[in-house]
Amino acid sequence: MPTGISLPEIGYEQVEAQSYEVAPCAFVLFGATGDLTRRKIVPALFRLKLQGLLPDPFIIVAFARREKDDTSFRADMREAVRTFAPHLPVDGAEWEEFARHLYYLRSTLDDSEGYARLSSRLSELDTEYGIPGNRVFYLATPPENFSEIIQHLGEAGLNRPGTEQGWARLVVEKPFGYDLASAKALNSELKTYFAEDQIYRIDHYLGKETVQNILVLRFANQIFEPLWNGRYIDNVQITVAETLGVEGRGNYFEQSGITRDMVQNHAMQVLTLIAMEPPVALNADAIRDEKVKVLKSIRPFTPQDVAKWTVRGQYGAGVQQGEEVLGYRQEEGVDPRSDTDTFAAFRFSIENWRWAGVPFYVQAGKRLPRRVTEVQIQFKAIPDILFARQNWSAIQPNRLVIRIQPDEGAYMEITSKAPGAQFKAQPVRMDFRYGASFDTPISDAYERLIYDTVRGDASLFARDDEVETAWALISPILEAWRTLSCPLFPNYSAGTWGPEAANQLLTGKAAWHIPQ
Ligand code: BG6
Repeated sequence: MPTGISLPEIGYEQVEAQSYEVAPCAFVLFGATGDLTRRKIVPALFRLKLQGLLPDPFIIVAFARREKDDTSFRADMREAVRTFAPHLPVDGAEWEEFARHLYYLRSTLDDSEGYARLSSRLSELDTEYGIPGNRVFYLATPPENFSEIIQHLGEAGLNRPGTEQGWARLVVEKPFGYDLASAKALNSELKTYFAEDQIYRIDHYLGKETVQNILVLRFANQIFEPLWNGRYIDNVQITVAETLGVEGRGNYFEQSGITRDMVQNHAMQVLTLIAMEPPVALNADAIRDEKVKVLKSIRPFTPQDVAKWTVRGQYGAGVQQGEEVLGYRQEEGVDPRSDTDTFAAFRFSIENWRWAGVPFYVQAGKRLPRRVTEVQIQFKAIPDILFARQNWSAIQPNRLVIRIQPDEGAYMEITSKAPGAQFKAQPVRMDFRYGASFDTPISDAYERLIYDTVRGDASLFARDDEVETAWALISPILEAWRTLSCPLFPNYSAGTWGPEAANQLLTGKAAWHIPQ
């Protein structure tokens, strides 16, 4: 039993939402020599193996261009895990057992013959290991390769499982589209060969423990739901802050900007989980139905709204954690006159009964003072009677702050009497920290997401209409920014909380929550 929370003593410790089957399968990795594979995917697979969460048998087939074979690929992956997950035991029998099931198939991504070889290799391995034709295809390549891989997989018949009883699933990495038109085009390419229930679109934020906890916090506690509406809540703020700059990804970031990189996907996912109605069941479609309804209820932005309710920023040189850092325009791969946003803030209006009149503020940025993602639910002030008449300026409205990362957890700020003979009020915190309440460390988002693809649970993946609806909201903003005059960039220094203009976005007495 974890400490710090108490469950009723009736003999259960965990409530599994729904059970899914973990069946033997082959896991085919495209982009197998890339950074994501080394940093995230293979360490996550190995950790799953160590926890006994992978099916047996489970084989991994890397499909990539570089000249390698099974032996050199296994050695490379061992080094990758040693580097990116140094606490994992790569020198023992567990690694040897894991590595024996790693295979390398060399081919370029545009070579039909390579996919035919993949198909026959998978059949051979199915027979050798007794795998009933189950396959996961994981696209961990840059997005410009998605189309050709999808098409080749389809033409090689790999969109279908290896046997009639088996299944075939396709995992698609971010970014999913560049705007609404490209997201639609990608969805339609996918649908040419794969059914929606075969497609798993990654947004790694959904794999974060604390993002999943939003659902549990909201719907497994009686105390929040009655207050979770515009009658009691004044405004909601979502902050996604990073200290990093573009880290050598200048070329990519020039095409993307913070809004495509972190808002359309990660921040909007958090927003929908905060704002959604209770789903009718804890399954993929029921949850995603409710999330899509939220996106559809957000008031679309006209160009006038864009001018009024959005703020863009770009960092200039500054001091970040004691070190001088370059401005965005001086970063490698960045146009010295670039108008790309490295900070963006928005005021969204959700036009439904629950949220009418409650602004949802979202801000995301690079080179901010702290790496922190938090949601603040700001409750309304108490009525101006009783204590307020005592001129108690210390009475602050209650706040619930959900700490997505780091220091995962949540706190509720309430007003309490300060000790002493005088009658003074002071805000205090009821604080829940994952680290203090549970012995188990927080797992990496990729671990959870890969586990779910193998189990066939798509709840933590974005559905076609969800991605398109989010783009339908964000694309007009990006288009309007192209025509509206751009602020004078840079408009904030690295190491500060974004441009001054972001403060003017908030209405009434609201102020941006500064994560502590
Ligand atoms: C990625 C973005 O999707 O998310 C990166 O492309 C960003 O630019 C990253 O740094 C943030 O993820 P996390 O899990 O570190 O918050």
